[in-house]
Amino acid sequence: MSSLMRRTAAAFAAGALLTGAVLTGTAHAEQAERDAAPLQSTLRDAAAAQGRFAGTAINDGLLSNPTYTSIASREFSSVTAENVMKWETIQPSRGNFNFSGGDRLVDFAQQNNQQVYGHTLVWHSQLPSWVSNGGFNAEQLNAVMTEHITEVVSHYAGDVAYWDVVNEAFNEDGTLRQSVFQQTLGQQYIADAFRVADAADPDAKLCINDYNIEAINAKSDGLYQLVSSLLQQGVPIDCVGFQSHLILDQIPGSFQSNLQRFVDLGLEVIITELDIRIPMPADQAELQRQAEQFAEVTEVCLAVDGCVGVTVWGISDRDSWVPDVFPGEGAACLYDDNYQAKPAYYAMLEAFGGGDDGGDDGGDDGGDDGGEEPGPEPEGCAATYSVVNRWNQGSVVEVSVTTEQALSGWTVEFSLPAGSVTSGWNAQVSQSGTQVTATNAPYNGSVPAGGTLSFGFQTDSGATYDTPQITLNGAPCATA
Ligand code: XIL
Repeated sequence: MSSLMRRTAAAFAAGALLTGAVLTGTAHAEQAERDAAPLQSTLRDAAAAQGRFAGTAINDGLLSNPTYTSIASREFSSVTAENVMKWETIQPSRGNFNFSGGDRLVDFAQQNNQQVYGHTLVWHSQLPSWVSNGGFNAEQLNAVMTEHITEVVSHYAGDVAYWDVVNEAFNEDGTLRQSVFQQTLGQQYIADAFRVADAADPDAKLCINDYNIEAINAKSDGLYQLVSSLLQQGVPIDCVGFQSHLILDQIPGSFQSNLQRFVDLGLEVIITELDIRIPMPADQAELQRQAEQFAEVTEVCLAVDGCVGVTVWGISDRDSWVPDVFPGEGAACLYDDNYQAKPAYYAMLEAFGGGDDGGDDGGDDGGDDGGEEPGPEPEGCAATYSVVNRWNQGSVVEVSVTTEQALSGWTVEFSLPAGSVTSGWNAQVSQSGTQVTATNAPYNGSVPAGGTLSFGFQTDSGATYDTPQITLNGAPCATA
């Protein structure tokens, strides 16, 4: 993707919020509700207000990158080790335990008041060959597995809130994967792994985690049968992790009812590795749909009482595992290659009930218009003009106008102090000289008394300037 396209994608972020607010009736109702209380401006705060955690996978190699760590600490309340707690890293040869990466993650989490989500104890992948090809018999492999779980879980006892005890145990048809554990120990290995983990840290919550189990399908049916039987046997299992490595436009319709059936068994459910991949290069329409789909997944979790958190798998598209594993696909995360928030970020924040405070992204502070001629006294409308994103040669602006009178059709005008409008949304935005005129789109011309209209536009200038005077249907508005 060219750097210009990347910027455009980041800039398009503003559209996500506006489209959501204008297009749906429920968005209006939610907005009214939120107006009553201050909006949470980070994912972690917004999720916390809903009793959920917002998590991310952390790449150990990026903990020295301040841009990365500032987003990780500001936005997320839960951190999962992307790799450093996996078997190949933590016990690369028998009895040789390497906790350094995991310990760094725990330190980072403690500094930032975050929960640590442990990933993962028993998995066929990223498993060192001394285990996978060790030629152990059942008794030996059981000892190897028990040692591993006991050492790792007791090392982190008190520091790790959740463990993915068993990862990816299933085939797509719902039968158990023929991993070395399954082949050597039979299905009993799963119950045993949970019992051993529970003995090592009775307070940690213990999960089974998998992919392609978001829908009600053969694989999630197999898992459902297994966890039902584990619970009947009194195995200490607390939760199911739904990885949710999803494909754009393929969010399963049965996601919510599927989560619900696991919750109905008495388990917590967690979205553990969310990303939504797009064939590359991703265009703006795709990024917009991706935003809606991140919001949809978040709403699915919020709709299910036992869904305790949503973790995204990586912070930026640059850090994501997707391009390495799915050639030709990418752009699957909340932040772009330059760590700029994408539409998906804003949509997820909004889905959690939070919102942009209008100032974080270099937004205009609404400066004093000192030098202007005094115009007619503002009445009947109040406007905000927020520069939500600004870079060398561009900016994204959101304009909202609250009207005292009901409107059927509107025109908002102001003079743009710098640059030209290159695109607009939720209005027809045109420019003549410095004068910008925005008229309602076919779907948002009616605004009730006390209602708010919103639209946005992008320009080709990154210059800073004071908030211009804004008029609504010719009448000047108070500007915040
Ligand atoms: C991935 C990591 O993101 C990559 O860095 C690594 O090379 C391979 O593993 N399901 C899981 C995760 O449970 O551990 C995987 O993470 C992604 C799929």
